[in-house]
This record gives sequence, structure tokens and C-alpha cells, in this order.
Amino acid sequence: MADNDRMVKAKKSKKNEFYTRYEDIEKEMNAYVEYNPDVFRDKIILLPCDDPEWSNFTKYFAANFKRFGLKKLISTSYAFDSKVDKGSYQLSLFESESPKFDIKKTKSHGKIFILDDDINGSGKIDIDDLKWDYLEGDGDFRSDEVRKLRDECDIVITNPPFSLFLEFFEWIMEAKKQFIIIGDMNAVSDLHVFPHIMSNEIWMGEAFNVTMTFAMDESYETSIKERDKLGRKLGKVPAICWYTNIELRKRHEYINLMTMADNIKYNKAFIKKCIEKYGKVEYKKYDNYDAIEVPVVSAIPSDYKEIMGVPMSFLGNYNPEQFTIVGTVSASQNEGSLNSGKKYNKYIGYKQDGTPNGRTGSTFGKCPVIIMDDGKHPYYEKDGIRVQATYPRIFIINKGEEKNES
Ligand SMILES: C[S@@+](CC[C@H](N)C(=O)[O-])C[C@H]1O[C@@H](n2cnc3c(N)ncnc32)[C@H](O)[C@@H]1O
Repeated sequence: MADNDRMVKAKKSKKNEFYTRYEDIEKEMNAYVEYNPDVFRDKIILLPCDDPEWSNFTKYFAANFKRFGLKKLISTSYAFDSKVDKGSYQLSLFESESPKFDIKKTKSHGKIFILDDDINGSGKIDIDDLKWDYLEGDGDFRSDEVRKLRDECDIVITNPPFSLFLEFFEWIMEAKKQFIIIGDMNAVSDLHVFPHIMSNEIWMGEAFNVTMTFAMDESYETSIKERDKLGRKLGKVPAICWYTNIELRKRHEYINLMTMADNIKYNKAFIKKCIEKYGKVEYKKYDNYDAIEVPVVSAIPSDYKEIMGVPMSFLGNYNPEQFTIVGTVSASQNEGSLNSGKKYNKYIGYKQDGTPNGRTGSTFGKCPVIIMDDGKHPYYEKDGIRVQATYPRIFIINKGEEKNES
């Protein structure tokens, strides 16, 4: 399997066993701690879907327990028998050498790990002070047992099962907890996620739209030869981001903007895109939305105060003090209802060689459409007017706030 397809295939095949590397967790958490050194102080952190025998989230927070001033760390793991992609069963020494070990429960029950005290009297609280037990059930995050832990904690942090991301997201939102979780870029424009981004209830974390390396089960094909410290395979997954509702610096940084005239004259990325698409450097208006198309984030003009459509990658730089998000559109979605209602059913689709491609513009769905023909992709024509749809867009307004340099 090509690494590029991994996330999509993981969802379809319900492959969930992707383990986050210590350094990726550290890099992400540093962003929150740097913004607010007390972000985790006196907090109860729940790490669901995290078996410390295999996962680095517990290791990371146990190692930083004192520095962060944590009150309690709770991790829960999911029973081997309940996993969709089981791989091979590995009983760890941690479990088998413990007096609590129960052969009847080891595969069918989830486990709970708690860290809140220096139980071995070493003078510090660390991973050796983890207390553990079997859960009553399999550790499913949707169970009453884990739900209760969620309700009692302050912050939920994890890389949830990829195939259940949206369900997991709703599970956190309904509890109104603080969270930092890994997901993929597809979820950004989801009907159940985007409205929360638009209303600034949640935002993107530090690592945004990155290709991330995960440890994986042997059954997964990967292109990386090295293995992690536990000897597991490593593989790359593209378009990964973190979702959160905890503050970080990035969210308060202003994007440096040029005027429309300066972008047209000097912005190389914008000039290249415009020449490729329209053969001319200009800000186009959509045919079906009352907004202008800004095909690259760096070309958002400082002197345009109306609605602009920008690529989804804008969210990686979104500062709510600088911009307001008013909607998003993709083929299937129109969050924010800015569409003029114009239909393209009567537009006939053509390949670039001029032969019909058997489609009409009804396949655009709700995508923003521009009067153009880039000379590369199929175009749609009616009465001599050629149109093409853009990729999904986010609609924004520049608030016009000046950057506070003090
Ligand atoms: C993407 S992996 C991440 C593991 C770990 N959080 C990490 O990042 O290293 C998701 C984990 O969730 C577990 N899982 C799958 N379905 C679950 C469910 N319904 N409830 C709880 N955990 C589940 C999987 O077995 C898997 O170990």
C-alpha cells in the first residue's frame, strides 16, 4: 500500500493500530506549555485508547508529571479481543509478572492505569508508580465506565482510532472537556466538525497537515526500513493534524499581508497559480458565490474587506483576531450558505480535446465555480461560457485589525 493512501484505507478497512512517536507528542505538547506553562497544572488528564505498554502518551506524561504539576494521569486500554485489527497477541512482562494478572481477563478486558502518587517511595512520581487494574469491560471509549472517567477528568489527550474519529470527536464535544487529539485533514470540513471551527470553539494544533510517522503492526505494509525501540514497523501517514480547544501561540500570530496590487506585482506563488489557471494575474470572482478566489494563502489581500475563498490550508494559520470564518464549501457541503443558488445542470462537460466527457455541471455539487478554462482539466460549457470548479474552500473576512507590535 502506498503511504499516501494509508489513512483512507485505514478508515475503510478499520485499521486502527497506529502508535504515535514520543517526539511527535513532545513537539505538540511543547506548543501548549510554551504558551501557558501552567496549562496542565492540577489537572486530571485522561488518555483513552492508550496502553502504556505500547503507547508513548502515558510515558510522556509520566515523565513530565512533576514538571507539569499534574494532579492525576489516567490511561485506559482497549481489550485485544475487541480490536478489529488484532495483529498478534503480546502479553507484556508488566502484566504477566503482576499479582493482578488474570488469564481469563487478559484478552477480553481493557485496563486502567493510574498515576497520582509516589507509591515506590523513590522520591518522584514516574512511570514506575503506575497502578493498574482490569476494567469491568473492554475499555471501549463509548462504555459507561470510560465515559465516567471522561466526565471526571479535565483534559482528554490521545490519538483515537482512525476509523472512529468522528464518533470520538462527538464523544469529547458532548462532555465539554478540554482536549488535544490527532486526526486527519478530511475531518476539518466534516459537517460535525467545521461548525465548531467556525465558531472558534475548537482549532488546529501545532502540527498541521503533516506527514507523520507512526509505529504499526507487522500486518501493515510500509516503505520505511527502520523500526522503533520496541522493534515495531514504522510507516508514514499524510495529512495529519491535531485538533484542540487549548490555547497556543500560533493561533495569535498574524499573517503578514500585502495589498491586492502588491500581490499581483510581487507574490510569486500567486502569479504562478494565476498564470497556470487563467493565463492572467488577477483576483477572480466566483460565478456562484459572492466572494473572490484567493488560490494561495499568502495572497490574502490586506485591503479587501469582503468575503474571500481560501484553501483549507488557511486553517494552519488562522488567527481569529485577524479573520472571521463565514463558511466552507466542498462538493457535498455548504456550511454558512453563501451559495447564490446558481445551477450548472445545463453546462455540458468536455475533455480538453473538445469531446464531451459525459457529465454536466450538476456534478460540481456546492463547489465554488469560476468562469475559466485552465487548459488542463475538463471544462463545462453553456452558451459559449466555460466554467470550472475549484477545490474545497473556506470563506473568510479580514477583520482589518492591525497587528499589535507592542
Ligand atoms: C490510532 S491507535 C493509537 C494508539 C495510541 N493512542 C497511540 O497514539 O500510540 C488507536 C487505539 O485505539 C484502540 N481502539 C480501537 N477502537 C477503540 C474503542 N472503541 N475504544 C477504545 N479504544 C479503541 C485501538 O485498538 C488502538 O490501539
